[in-house]
Amino acid sequence: MNRLEKALEEAQATLVLEVERLLPESVAPEARVVQAMRYATLNGGKRLRPFLVLTTAALFNVARQSAARVAAAIEFVHCYSLVHDDLPAMDNDDLRRGIPTCHKAFDEATAILAGDALLTKAFEVLGGASTHPDPSVRADLVVALAEAAGHQGMVGGQMIDMLASTSKQPMDIPAITRLQRMKTGRLIAFSCVAGPILGKAHSNQRQALEAYAHDLGLVFQITDDLLDVEASTEEMGKKTGKDADQGKATFVSLLGVERAKAQAQALGDQAIKHLDVFGDCDAAHLLSDTVRYVLTRRN
Ligand code: IPE
Ligand code: IPE
Ligand code: MG
Ligand code: MG
Ligand code: MG
Repeated sequence: MNRLEKALEEAQATLVLEVERLLPESVAPEARVVQAMRYATLNGGKRLRPFLVLTTAALFNVARQSAARVAAAIEFVHCYSLVHDDLPAMDNDDLRRGIPTCHKAFDEATAILAGDALLTKAFEVLGGASTHPDPSVRADLVVALAEAAGHQGMVGGQMIDMLASTSKQPMDIPAITRLQRMKTGRLIAFSCVAGPILGKAHSNQRQALEAYAHDLGLVFQITDDLLDVEASTEEMGKKTGKDADQGKATFVSLLGVERAKAQAQALGDQAIKHLDVFGDCDAAHLLSDTVRYVLTRRN
């Protein structure tokens, strides 16, 4: 196992432990929504965003428990976004992480509520006193995640994604870049600035991680779009070949596979350059390994 695989595995374990702590099983009358929240967060996934929180926090020697709570918060928001993305009103998908999507395993109303509750839970966790002793740090985290998840970020990107599927007007590269940066990039960017926020880092260090995340987020969504064309449903654990069917605007639909790959590679090289300010340390090496992993991933 190489150092990145080991670190990813450790992040997975930390995340599962924290989610179990924050979202224990319930026997209350509303237990069904808790079951659906646990279903959406505890059934795998790469946990890339929690890993990025833990790794950027390690750059600034942040207490692991603080970082673990923020890691759980971003995974809650990410999983909520997937539960809603899979709904019939959106991408209408039946399979996620190799098992039925939340609305298939439960029902649509429960999936909507589970998504709502995961989103809200994230802010409860960030605002909680044990996330950081300094309340201004907790407030910074809350604002940063709200901006990343809301209409200026993920939700805004999802809106444009939905509109583009029905529009007859093809999107150009700047418009698709903006869509992808909002839809996927902003939650990844939050994951990378969580470390410097928790560690009260110098602004140049925070800016370097913002720049890194800016490129990494785009690489991540371009790879997702490429895998939708090139990978199998078995490998991905979700149905592939759907973007073209649904008329999604992606780099692949506009540039074709080869040019989209070249674009991802160029952005990946650019992302790694932004890490120079951190010199030769383990966490910085992990972050550059992450770029190569995202570029070559098969799921
Ligand atoms: C899928 O995200 C949705 C996109 C933003 C492309 P991931 O590929 O991170 O999904 P999981 O969490 O590993 O299942
Ligand atoms: C969704 O993008 C990104 C989100 C904000 C949820 P996709 O619709 O491409 O994600 P997958 O392919 O279903 O995971
Ligand atoms: Mg979608
Ligand atoms: Mg989808
Ligand atoms: Mg996709």
